[in-house]
Amino acid sequence: MAEKSVVDQVKESTDIVNLISEYVDLEKRGNNYVGLCPFHNEKTPSFNVYKDTGSYYCFGCRANGSVIDFYMEMENLPFNEALQSLGERSGIKVKHKQTNVNSKELQLIKMHEIMVDNYHNILVSTAEGKEALNYLLKRGFTLEQIKKEKIGFAPNIKDSAIQLLENLKFSKEMMYQAGLVARNEETFEYFDRFRNRIMIPIKNHKGKYVAFTARALGDDTPKYLNSPETDIFHKSSIIFNLSDAYKVIQDEKEVILMEGHMDVLKVKNTSIKNVVATMGTSVSLKQIEILKRVSKNITLMFDGDEAGKNATQSVGEKILEQKGNPYVIPLQTGMDPDEFIEKHGEESFEKYIYENRDHFIVYDAKEKLKSSKRNDLKFSEYLNHSIQLLKYIDNEVERSRLVKQISELYEVDAELIHRQLPKKQRRRGNKITFSSPSVTRVTSREFKEKHIMHTLINSKERMRYFTSNFDLNLFQTNGYHDIINKLVEYFSEFDTFDKQMFISYIDPELITCLEHIIATDLPVLEEQELNDYIQAICGISSSSGEKNNLIKEIEQAELIGDDERALELFNQLIELQKFPKSK
Ligand code: CTP
Ligand code: MN
Repeated sequence: MAEKSVVDQVKESTDIVNLISEYVDLEKRGNNYVGLCPFHNEKTPSFNVYKDTGSYYCFGCRANGSVIDFYMEMENLPFNEALQSLGERSGIKVKHKQTNVNSKELQLIKMHEIMVDNYHNILVSTAEGKEALNYLLKRGFTLEQIKKEKIGFAPNIKDSAIQLLENLKFSKEMMYQAGLVARNEETFEYFDRFRNRIMIPIKNHKGKYVAFTARALGDDTPKYLNSPETDIFHKSSIIFNLSDAYKVIQDEKEVILMEGHMDVLKVKNTSIKNVVATMGTSVSLKQIEILKRVSKNITLMFDGDEAGKNATQSVGEKILEQKGNPYVIPLQTGMDPDEFIEKHGEESFEKYIYENRDHFIVYDAKEKLKSSKRNDLKFSEYLNHSIQLLKYIDNEVERSRLVKQISELYEVDAELIHRQLPKKQRRRGNKITFSSPSVTRVTSREFKEKHIMHTLINSKERMRYFTSNFDLNLFQTNGYHDIINKLVEYFSEFDTFDKQMFISYIDPELITCLEHIIATDLPVLEEQELNDYIQAICGISSSSGEKNNLIKEIEQAELIGDDERALELFNQLIELQKFPKSK
C-alpha cells in the first residue's frame, strides 16, 4: 500500500472540532457541532462541523472544506504555509516550497519580466533598435520569432535600465542583485550592465525570466555578455530552452544539446524542437542529471571546431558515467547549426540530423580511427578504450548492437569484444573508472588551496570546470571564499584575468591575500590535476549523517509532490557522494 500523503497525515492528526473551536463557539448536536459561521454574518447558527469526515459546511453561505481550507481562510495563508503550520501542531514535518515564500526571488524575476518587455519594445518599435533588428533579420530570424522569443535590444545608454526600474520603485541594490546593473566598487556608481547589445532572455525550467545572454552588435568584445550568478540564475544548473522543449523532449525521447543560444533559437524554428543549450560548451554534472531525467538519450551537436570536438569527448564520457545514452551529430569544421541552416537551408539540416547520428561510443571510435591505421601501434589502445566505454552500457540489446558496430569498425571478431565485457551488469552505480585519479599526497592543505586558486585565477576555462563541478565553499584559507565568489562575477564579464581590473571587484582587505596567490610561482594545473587536488583536500569519505538527512528530505519533498525541491536535493546528494563539502 502506498504511504499516506503529508496532506492526509496533517488532516488526520488535526482534530477539526478542536481547531475550529479556537475561532468559533461550537455546540454539540447529535454527532456534529454547530456554531455561528465565521465567513458570513448571521444570528442563528448554520455552520456545521463534521468530526467523522473532518469537514465543515455552512448552510447559510455554503462555505465548506477540510480543516486545511478552514485554517487557510481564517489565517489568510497560502496552502503550503497552512499545511506547514498545522503540521507543526501535530508534529508532522512539512517542507516548505521555497519558491512560494522567497519574495526577493519574486522581485528579481519581476525586474526581469519588466526588462524583457522593455528591451523587446526598443528592438521592434523604436529607432534605436533599428540596426539590431536589421542585423537579426539578416541573420535569418523572422519578426514572428523575434516577438515570440521576446528578443530585445539594450540601447547604448549608461542608465536606461536604472531609470526605468527606479521609476518603478526598485532599489539600485536590487537591480545589482538581479545582475541587470553593475557598479564601480570604488565610486559605488551604478550603471547598466547591458549596453548596445542584442538581448536574449533566458528562462528557468518553470518558464520564468531569470537572466540574459547579450550579443554584441558588431565585433565588440566579449561577443556574449551573460548575466552574473544571482539568487535566481545558477549557470551550472540552468538549461536554455528546456521549459519550451520539455514536452517534445519527453515525447521524442531525445534531447539535442548545442553550444550556442543562437543555434538553439535558429533550430527551434525548424521542425526540430527538442533542442537546448548550456552556457557554451561547459556542461555540469547537474545539467546532465537534469537532462537525463527528461530523456536518457542526449545527443551532442557542438560546433565543428577543436573546442566543440573536445567538449563532445568530455561531455560524452560524463553522460556515459552517469548512465545516460550519449549520441553525437558531428558538424563539419568551422560549422555551427545556425550557419549550417543559413548555408544549406532547413530541409538539408533536418536531413542531416536524421542521417548523421552515431552513438557516442561509435563516434569516438570513428574519430580515433581517422588518425590510426589497422596496424598502427595506437590501434589496440583505441580498441581497448572503446571496450572500456562499452562497459557502461547496461542494456544488453543496446550493448550487443554497439559491440557489432565497434567490431566492424575495428575489423575484429565481435566475440573477442564480448569476452572482455563482464557477463551481467546487475549492480547499478558500480562506477568503472578508466582514468582513476592519480593519488596526490596531501602536504599542507593551505598550499594546495593556493595552487588551486592560482590555477583558477589564471584560467577561465579551469574556472568554468571548477564552478560546474565543485562547491565554491570548498576553501578554508582566509579570504579565499570571498575571492572565488568575486572571481565568478569577474569571469562572467571578462575572459582573462587582469589584476588591476579585478581589484575593483574585491574588498581592499583582500588585496594582500590576492597578492599572495598571484605571487606564487606555480604552474596552472591541468583539468585532471585540478580534479585530483580537490579530491585530495576534500578527503574521500563523507558524513553519512548529512546524506541520511538529505534522503529523508527528498522523500518528504516527493511526498508533497514538490518535484523541483526533490530534484534540487537529489543533486545535493550526488554532490555529496562525489566530494564532501567542507564547511
Ligand atoms: N559564450 C559566452 N561568452 C563568450 C562567447 C561565447 O558565454 N564570450 C557562450 C555563449 O553561451 C554562446 C556560446 O558560448 O551562446 C557559443 O559561442 P560561439 O560559438 O562563439 O557563438 P555563436 O553561437 O556561434 O554565436 P554567433 O552565431 O552569434 O556568432
Ligand atoms: Mn554562430
